[in-house]
Amino acid sequence: MNSESISIRQMLDEDLDKILKIITAHDEDDAEEAQRDYQEGGISGQYVMLLDNQLIGVSGAKRVEACDNTFKLSWTYIDKKHCNQGYGRQLLQYLVDEIISCNGRKIFVYVSDYIDEDGIALYAAALKLYQSLGFETELKIADYYDRGESLSVLGLVLKPAPSELPSVISESPKIVFKQLYPVAETENSYSFSWDTKFLGKSFSASDVKIGVDAAHDVEASMVLISFPSNFDNVTMPLFEAGFSLLGQLKDYYEDGIHEDHYSFRLY
Ligand SMILES: CC(C)(COP(=O)(O)OP(=O)(O)OC[C@H]1O[C@@H](n2cnc3c(N)ncnc32)[C@H](O)[C@@H]1OP(=O)(O)O)[C@@H](O)C(=O)NCCC(=O)NCCS
Repeated sequence: MNSESISIRQMLDEDLDKILKIITAHDEDDAEEAQRDYQEGGISGQYVMLLDNQLIGVSGAKRVEACDNTFKLSWTYIDKKHCNQGYGRQLLQYLVDEIISCNGRKIFVYVSDYIDEDGIALYAAALKLYQSLGFETELKIADYYDRGESLSVLGLVLKPAPSELPSVISESPKIVFKQLYPVAETENSYSFSWDTKFLGKSFSASDVKIGVDAAHDVEASMVLISFPSNFDNVTMPLFEAGFSLLGQLKDYYEDGIHEDHYSFRLY
């Protein structure tokens, strides 16, 4: 008779060492990034799985700021010696149910197609698992993490948008680029933080070019930027400055307002 007992509870600060050990066994760089994330972003919304009171897995999700009940999955790892026994699916299903009970409308997860030195696709199991839970690829960015290593963003619809959506109101805010910053986990990709204001001149290709020049100065390989799809004054300046539209995350901000992703490749 199998008497093992499985439980899932919210993550506590004292779980951190065990969690980082589990992640390190899969990938050391991920463990470093995860530690930074937990320290900077906190551990609320993070859960651990226990098998006979031993911590064997972690997963979690965070609400995406300024969005209508949109969530983003965070670090999901099962202890290597317990992988492929159904625990990952159980933990993720628990998390999805939690998000549904918090009124979640859509969940996104960001997955790399990294292949390690031994030719192993590190995240292939995760990708299969997400797909089997109903996640669908909405955006793929080639060479995102590094040359040859893509990012796929998968979305899971929890509440389908009503078939008769009220028409989305277009906006033409003044965009102000604030700061060039390196995109986490990438080799040499950069992005800009931006803000909107209601005074001042319109956003133009020359504003974008100032940003691209700054990216040249730090020898960035790619500049990535995203805007809500109802901003009707950003596409033309971005295209004029040499950016391309990569795709969009559907209903990211709210039903009918997507997140449009653009890139500019420097090298
Ligand atoms: C992804 C992960 C959490 C899945 O946990 P798990 O307990 O091993 O998964 P499960 O046993 O619940 O399997 C669920 C599904 O995953 C897939 N899967 C599991 N192991 C797999 C493997 N080695 N190769 C391919 N698919 C696999 C299968 O589709 C399986 O579905 P099935 O039950 O229909 O066969 C775990 O493999 C892991 O920690 N991987 C490394 C970390 C990682 O990739 N995290 C996600 C980053 S985005």
